[in-house]
Amino acid sequence: MDDLRTSLERIRGQFDREARAAGSSQELENLRVRYLGKKGELTSVLRLMGQLPAEERPAAGQAANETREAIEAALAERVAVVAAQERTLRLSEEKIDITLPGIRRPMGARHPLSKAADEICDVFLGLGYSIAEGPEVELDHYNFEMLNTPAGHPARDTQDTFYISDSVLLRTQTSPVQVRVMESTRPPIRIVCPGRVYRSDTIDATHSAVFHQIEGLAVDKGITMGDLVGSLQLYARRLFGEETKIRLRPHHFPFTEPSAEVDVSCWVCGGKGCRTCKGEGWVEMLGAGMVHPKVLVGCGIDPEVYSGFAFGIGVERTAMARFGIEDLRAMYENDVRFLSQFK
Ligand code: DAH
Repeated sequence: MDDLRTSLERIRGQFDREARAAGSSQELENLRVRYLGKKGELTSVLRLMGQLPAEERPAAGQAANETREAIEAALAERVAVVAAQERTLRLSEEKIDITLPGIRRPMGARHPLSKAADEICDVFLGLGYSIAEGPEVELDHYNFEMLNTPAGHPARDTQDTFYISDSVLLRTQTSPVQVRVMESTRPPIRIVCPGRVYRSDTIDATHSAVFHQIEGLAVDKGITMGDLVGSLQLYARRLFGEETKIRLRPHHFPFTEPSAEVDVSCWVCGGKGCRTCKGEGWVEMLGAGMVHPKVLVGCGIDPEVYSGFAFGIGVERTAMARFGIEDLRAMYENDVRFLSQFK
Protein backbone atom coordinates (compact mmCIF):
# COMPACT_ATOMS: atom_id res chain seq x y z
CA MET A 1 0.00 0.00 0.00
CA ASP A 2 2.76 2.41 0.94
CA ASP A 3 4.59 1.42 -2.23
CA LEU A 4 1.52 2.34 -4.23
CA ARG A 5 1.17 5.73 -2.54
CA THR A 6 4.85 6.44 -3.17
CA SER A 7 4.42 5.53 -6.83
CA LEU A 8 1.33 7.74 -7.14
CA GLU A 9 3.14 10.68 -5.55
CA ARG A 10 6.14 10.15 -7.81
CA ILE A 11 3.87 10.09 -10.84
CA ARG A 12 2.03 13.18 -9.70
CA GLY A 13 5.27 15.08 -9.03
CA GLN A 14 6.78 14.01 -12.33
CA PHE A 15 3.61 15.01 -14.18
CA ASP A 16 3.58 18.48 -12.62
CA ARG A 17 7.17 19.10 -13.65
CA GLU A 18 6.61 17.93 -17.18
CA ALA A 19 3.34 19.81 -17.51
CA ARG A 20 5.03 23.04 -16.47
CA ALA A 21 7.77 22.45 -19.03
CA ALA A 22 5.35 21.64 -21.86
CA GLY A 23 4.97 24.73 -24.06
CA SER A 24 2.51 23.58 -26.73
CA SER A 25 -0.87 21.87 -27.03
CA GLN A 26 0.83 19.02 -28.82
CA GLU A 27 3.28 18.41 -25.97
CA LEU A 28 0.39 18.47 -23.46
CA GLU A 29 -1.55 15.98 -25.55
CA ASN A 30 1.49 13.71 -25.57
CA LEU A 31 1.62 14.02 -21.75
CA ARG A 32 -2.06 13.11 -21.46
CA VAL A 33 -1.51 9.92 -23.42
CA ARG A 34 1.61 9.08 -21.46
CA TYR A 35 0.03 9.56 -18.02
CA LEU A 36 -3.68 8.87 -18.44
CA GLY A 37 -3.85 6.71 -21.56
CA LYS A 38 -4.54 2.98 -21.62
CA LYS A 39 -0.87 2.16 -21.64
CA GLY A 40 -0.07 5.15 -19.45
CA GLU A 41 1.89 5.34 -16.23
CA LEU A 42 -1.16 5.60 -13.99
CA THR A 43 -2.81 2.57 -15.55
CA SER A 44 0.28 0.46 -15.02
CA VAL A 45 0.38 1.48 -11.33
CA LEU A 46 -3.29 0.61 -10.93
CA ARG A 47 -2.52 -2.85 -12.16
CA LEU A 48 -0.42 -3.32 -9.02
CA MET A 49 -3.65 -3.01 -7.00
CA GLY A 50 -4.40 -6.64 -7.82
CA GLN A 51 -1.50 -7.67 -5.61
CA LEU A 52 -2.86 -5.80 -2.57
CA PRO A 53 -4.84 -7.49 0.20
CA ALA A 54 -8.57 -7.02 -0.31
CA GLU A 55 -9.07 -4.69 2.70
CA GLU A 56 -6.50 -2.24 1.40
CA ARG A 57 -7.96 -2.00 -2.07
CA PRO A 58 -10.72 0.59 -1.44
CA ALA A 59 -8.22 3.06 0.05
CA ALA A 60 -5.76 2.34 -2.72
CA GLY A 61 -8.46 2.80 -5.34
CA GLN A 62 -9.46 6.11 -3.81
CA ALA A 63 -5.85 7.30 -3.73
CA ALA A 64 -5.43 6.31 -7.38
CA ASN A 65 -8.63 8.11 -8.38
CA GLU A 66 -7.58 11.21 -6.52
CA THR A 67 -4.29 11.20 -8.35
CA ARG A 68 -6.05 10.71 -11.72
CA GLU A 69 -8.46 13.56 -10.98
CA ALA A 70 -5.64 15.82 -9.80
CA ILE A 71 -3.65 15.09 -12.96
CA GLU A 72 -6.74 15.67 -15.14
CA ALA A 73 -7.47 18.99 -13.42
CA ALA A 74 -3.87 20.15 -13.62
CA LEU A 75 -3.72 19.11 -17.29
CA ALA A 76 -6.95 20.96 -18.15
CA GLU A 77 -5.67 24.10 -16.49
CA ARG A 78 -2.35 23.91 -18.29
CA VAL A 79 -4.08 23.17 -21.64
CA ALA A 80 -6.20 26.31 -21.20
CA VAL A 81 -3.17 28.48 -20.46
CA VAL A 82 -1.13 27.12 -23.37
CA ALA A 83 -4.06 27.36 -25.80
CA ALA A 84 -4.56 31.00 -24.84
CA GLN A 85 -0.85 31.70 -25.38
CA GLU A 86 -0.94 30.00 -28.75
CA ARG A 87 -3.96 31.98 -29.81
CA THR A 88 -2.38 35.27 -28.80
CA LEU A 89 0.75 34.38 -30.71
CA ARG A 90 -1.18 33.40 -33.82
CA LEU A 91 -3.25 36.58 -33.73
CA SER A 92 -0.15 38.72 -33.47
CA GLU A 93 1.49 36.84 -36.33
CA GLU A 94 -1.56 37.14 -38.55
CA LYS A 95 -2.14 40.77 -37.74
CA ILE A 96 -2.56 43.11 -40.72
CA ASP A 97 -2.01 46.75 -40.01
CA ILE A 98 -4.49 48.41 -42.34
CA THR A 99 -3.22 51.83 -41.31
CA LEU A 100 0.14 51.25 -43.07
CA PRO A 101 0.49 53.02 -46.41
CA GLY A 102 0.56 50.65 -49.39
CA ILE A 103 3.68 49.82 -51.37
CA ARG A 104 4.11 52.51 -53.99
CA ARG A 105 4.58 51.09 -57.48
CA PRO A 106 6.65 53.49 -59.55
CA MET A 107 4.61 54.80 -62.48
CA GLY A 108 6.22 54.76 -65.88
CA ALA A 109 6.28 57.79 -68.14
CA ARG A 110 5.77 58.21 -71.88
CA HIS A 111 9.05 58.36 -73.75
CA PRO A 112 9.72 61.94 -74.94
CA LEU A 113 9.89 60.72 -78.55
CA SER A 114 6.52 58.98 -78.27
CA LYS A 115 5.13 62.06 -76.58
CA ALA A 116 6.37 64.40 -79.29
CA ALA A 117 5.18 62.05 -82.06
CA ASP A 118 1.74 61.79 -80.45
CA GLU A 119 1.47 65.56 -80.09
CA ILE A 120 2.39 66.09 -83.74
CA CYS A 121 0.00 63.41 -84.98
CA ASP A 122 -2.78 64.82 -82.80
CA VAL A 123 -2.56 68.18 -84.55
CA PHE A 124 -3.19 66.51 -87.91
CA LEU A 125 -5.71 63.97 -86.65
CA GLY A 126 -7.65 67.03 -85.52
CA LEU A 127 -7.60 68.25 -89.14
CA GLY A 128 -9.10 64.98 -90.38
CA TYR A 129 -5.88 63.15 -91.26
CA SER A 130 -5.45 59.47 -90.54
CA ILE A 131 -2.34 57.50 -89.61
CA ALA A 132 -0.54 55.38 -92.22
CA GLU A 133 2.45 53.15 -91.74
CA GLY A 134 5.00 51.49 -93.98
CA PRO A 135 7.90 49.05 -93.70
CA GLU A 136 11.28 50.05 -92.26
CA VAL A 137 12.97 47.55 -94.56
CA GLU A 138 11.97 49.16 -97.83
CA LEU A 139 12.48 48.73 -101.54
CA ASP A 140 14.81 51.13 -103.30
CA HIS A 141 11.85 51.49 -105.66
CA TYR A 142 9.72 53.21 -103.00
CA ASN A 143 12.45 54.92 -101.01
CA PHE A 144 14.02 56.58 -104.08
CA GLU A 145 12.76 55.64 -107.57
CA MET A 146 9.10 56.52 -107.12
CA LEU A 147 10.12 59.68 -105.31
CA ASN A 148 11.78 60.98 -108.47
CA THR A 149 15.22 60.07 -107.18
CA PRO A 150 16.63 57.65 -109.77
CA ALA A 151 19.94 55.81 -109.43
CA GLY A 152 22.82 58.26 -109.65
CA HIS A 153 20.74 61.20 -108.35
CA PRO A 154 22.86 63.33 -106.01
CA ALA A 155 20.07 63.37 -103.40
CA ARG A 156 20.92 59.72 -102.72
CA ASP A 157 24.41 60.69 -101.56
CA THR A 158 23.07 63.00 -98.87
CA GLN A 159 21.08 60.11 -97.40
CA ASP A 160 23.99 57.67 -97.13
CA THR A 161 22.11 54.46 -96.79
CA PHE A 162 22.18 50.98 -95.25
CA TYR A 163 21.65 48.57 -98.13
CA ILE A 164 20.44 45.02 -97.56
CA SER A 165 20.76 44.17 -101.23
CA ASP A 166 20.92 46.25 -104.43
CA SER A 167 17.18 46.77 -104.31
CA VAL A 168 16.37 46.55 -100.58
CA LEU A 169 17.44 49.01 -97.91
CA LEU A 170 16.57 50.46 -94.52
CA ARG A 171 14.36 53.40 -95.43
CA THR A 172 16.10 56.76 -95.16
CA GLN A 173 12.87 58.72 -94.87
CA THR A 174 9.16 58.17 -94.25
CA SER A 175 8.38 59.60 -97.72
CA PRO A 176 8.04 56.12 -99.34
CA VAL A 177 4.83 55.69 -97.32
CA GLN A 178 3.36 58.54 -99.39
CA VAL A 179 3.88 56.51 -102.54
CA ARG A 180 2.49 53.31 -101.05
CA VAL A 181 -0.65 55.17 -99.95
CA MET A 182 -1.12 57.05 -103.25
CA GLU A 183 -0.76 53.81 -105.20
CA SER A 184 -3.51 52.12 -103.25
CA THR A 185 -5.87 55.01 -102.38
CA ARG A 186 -7.69 57.54 -104.52
CA PRO A 187 -7.83 61.22 -103.47
CA PRO A 188 -8.87 62.90 -101.29
CA ILE A 189 -5.91 61.70 -99.20
CA ARG A 190 -4.87 63.11 -95.84
CA ILE A 191 -2.34 61.05 -93.91
CA VAL A 192 0.46 61.32 -91.39
CA CYS A 193 3.05 58.53 -91.22
CA PRO A 194 5.15 58.36 -88.07
CA GLY A 195 8.13 56.04 -88.21
CA ARG A 196 11.75 55.15 -87.75
CA VAL A 197 14.30 55.91 -90.44
CA TYR A 198 17.97 55.01 -90.95
CA ARG A 199 20.99 56.78 -92.32
CA SER A 200 24.65 55.90 -92.20
CA ASP A 201 25.45 58.80 -89.89
CA THR A 202 27.86 59.26 -86.98
CA ILE A 203 26.07 59.88 -83.72
CA ASP A 204 26.54 63.21 -81.95
CA ALA A 205 24.35 65.64 -80.00
CA THR A 206 22.13 66.32 -83.03
CA HIS A 207 22.62 63.29 -85.32
CA SER A 208 21.83 59.61 -85.11
CA ALA A 209 21.89 56.73 -87.57
CA VAL A 210 18.40 55.80 -86.37
CA PHE A 211 15.86 58.55 -85.91
CA HIS A 212 12.20 59.35 -86.42
CA GLN A 213 10.12 61.34 -88.85
CA ILE A 214 6.50 62.09 -89.40
CA GLU A 215 5.51 62.32 -93.01
CA GLY A 216 2.43 64.27 -93.96
CA LEU A 217 0.53 64.14 -97.23
CA ALA A 218 -2.62 65.84 -98.49
CA VAL A 219 -3.86 65.27 -102.05
CA ASP A 220 -7.11 66.65 -103.37
CA LYS A 221 -8.53 68.98 -105.99
CA GLY A 222 -7.34 72.55 -105.57
CA ILE A 223 -4.72 72.05 -102.84
CA THR A 224 -2.29 74.97 -102.76
CA MET A 225 0.86 76.06 -101.01
CA GLY A 226 -1.40 78.21 -98.83
CA ASP A 227 -2.93 75.04 -97.39
CA LEU A 228 0.55 73.73 -96.63
CA VAL A 229 1.55 76.93 -94.84
CA GLY A 230 -1.67 77.01 -92.82
CA SER A 231 -1.30 73.40 -91.72
CA LEU A 232 2.32 73.81 -90.69
CA GLN A 233 1.51 77.05 -88.90
CA LEU A 234 -0.95 75.10 -86.79
CA TYR A 235 1.69 72.44 -86.00
CA ALA A 236 4.15 75.15 -84.90
CA ARG A 237 1.61 76.94 -82.68
CA ARG A 238 0.35 73.79 -81.04
CA LEU A 239 3.78 72.46 -80.21
CA PHE A 240 5.74 75.61 -79.43
CA GLY A 241 3.12 78.12 -78.34
CA GLU A 242 0.55 80.44 -79.92
CA GLU A 243 3.13 83.16 -80.65
CA THR A 244 5.23 80.87 -82.83
CA LYS A 245 5.77 81.80 -86.48
CA ILE A 246 7.06 79.73 -89.35
CA ARG A 247 9.35 80.66 -92.20
CA LEU A 248 9.78 78.87 -95.53
CA ARG A 249 13.17 78.91 -97.23
CA PRO A 250 13.40 77.74 -100.85
CA HIS A 251 15.07 74.34 -101.04
CA HIS A 252 15.22 71.30 -103.29
CA PHE A 253 13.67 67.91 -102.76
CA PRO A 254 13.34 65.65 -105.79
CA PHE A 255 9.75 64.72 -104.92
CA THR A 256 8.32 68.21 -104.38
CA GLU A 257 8.14 71.30 -106.56
CA PRO A 258 8.40 73.91 -105.23
CA SER A 259 10.19 72.72 -102.10
CA ALA A 260 11.01 74.47 -98.88
CA GLU A 261 12.80 74.00 -95.62
CA VAL A 262 10.61 75.18 -92.80
CA ASP A 263 11.91 77.03 -89.76
CA VAL A 264 10.06 77.71 -86.54
CA SER A 265 10.63 80.98 -84.64
CA CYS A 266 12.74 80.35 -81.55
CA TRP A 267 10.55 79.30 -78.61
CA VAL A 268 13.19 80.48 -76.13
CA CYS A 269 13.91 84.04 -77.29
CA GLY A 270 10.86 84.57 -79.49
CA GLY A 271 13.06 85.36 -82.50
CA LYS A 272 15.56 87.84 -81.02
CA GLY A 273 18.43 85.38 -81.19
CA CYS A 274 19.82 83.27 -78.35
CA ARG A 275 21.92 80.23 -77.60
CA THR A 276 19.17 77.77 -78.54
CA CYS A 277 18.68 79.21 -82.04
CA LYS A 278 22.41 80.02 -82.34
CA GLY A 279 21.55 83.71 -82.69
CA GLU A 280 19.33 83.08 -85.72
CA GLY A 281 15.92 83.56 -84.14
CA TRP A 282 14.76 80.54 -86.17
CA VAL A 283 15.24 76.78 -85.91
CA GLU A 284 14.90 74.36 -88.83
CA MET A 285 12.24 71.76 -88.12
CA LEU A 286 11.11 70.12 -91.37
CA GLY A 287 11.08 69.84 -95.13
CA ALA A 288 8.00 70.34 -97.27
CA GLY A 289 6.64 71.18 -100.68
CA MET A 290 4.02 70.58 -103.35
CA VAL A 291 4.03 66.97 -104.50
CA HIS A 292 5.97 66.73 -107.78
CA PRO A 293 3.75 65.97 -110.81
CA LYS A 294 6.04 63.05 -111.69
CA VAL A 295 5.35 61.45 -108.32
CA LEU A 296 1.59 61.85 -108.79
CA VAL A 297 1.73 60.38 -112.29
CA GLY A 298 3.82 57.43 -111.04
CA CYS A 299 1.03 56.62 -108.60
CA GLY A 300 -1.69 56.95 -111.24
CA ILE A 301 -2.99 60.31 -110.03
CA ASP A 302 -3.63 62.95 -112.71
CA PRO A 303 -1.71 66.14 -111.81
CA GLU A 304 -4.04 68.14 -114.06
CA VAL A 305 -6.91 67.27 -111.74
CA TYR A 306 -5.26 66.84 -108.38
CA SER A 307 -2.53 68.56 -106.45
CA GLY A 308 -1.05 67.93 -103.06
CA PHE A 309 1.46 69.00 -100.47
CA ALA A 310 3.80 66.90 -98.38
CA PHE A 311 6.08 67.46 -95.44
CA GLY A 312 8.51 65.52 -93.28
CA ILE A 313 8.88 66.55 -89.64
CA GLY A 314 11.86 65.49 -87.52
CA VAL A 315 10.52 63.96 -84.31
CA GLU A 316 13.85 64.21 -82.45
CA ARG A 317 14.16 67.89 -83.35
CA THR A 318 10.63 68.55 -82.25
CA ALA A 319 11.12 66.66 -78.97
CA MET A 320 14.39 68.48 -78.21
CA ALA A 321 12.73 71.82 -78.82
CA ARG A 322 9.51 70.96 -77.05
CA PHE A 323 11.14 69.54 -73.91
CA GLY A 324 14.43 71.48 -73.84
CA ILE A 325 16.65 68.43 -74.47
CA GLU A 326 20.14 69.49 -75.52
CA ASP A 327 21.60 66.14 -76.61
CA LEU A 328 19.44 63.70 -78.53
CA ARG A 329 21.54 60.76 -77.25
CA ALA A 330 19.74 61.17 -73.92
CA MET A 331 16.62 59.90 -75.69
CA TYR A 332 18.26 56.62 -76.70
CA GLU A 333 20.10 55.70 -73.50
CA ASN A 334 17.11 54.59 -71.42
CA ASP A 335 18.40 56.25 -68.28
CA VAL A 336 15.44 56.27 -65.92
CA ARG A 337 16.63 59.49 -64.27
CA PHE A 338 16.18 61.21 -67.63
CA LEU A 339 13.04 59.41 -68.75
CA SER A 340 11.15 59.85 -65.48
CA GLN A 341 11.12 63.63 -66.02
CA PHE A 342 8.47 63.30 -68.72
CA LYS A 343 5.57 62.33 -66.48
N1 DAH B 1 12.01 63.11 -96.71
C1 DAH B 1 12.72 64.34 -96.46
C2 DAH B 1 13.94 64.10 -95.64
O1 DAH B 1 14.05 63.07 -95.03
C3 DAH B 1 11.80 65.29 -95.72
C4 DAH B 1 10.70 65.75 -96.59
C5 DAH B 1 10.85 66.90 -97.34
C6 DAH B 1 9.53 65.05 -96.69
C7 DAH B 1 9.85 67.35 -98.16
C8 DAH B 1 8.52 65.49 -97.50
C9 DAH B 1 8.69 66.65 -98.24
O2 DAH B 1 7.36 64.86 -97.64
O3 DAH B 1 7.70 67.08 -99.05
O4 DAH B 1 14.81 64.92 -95.61
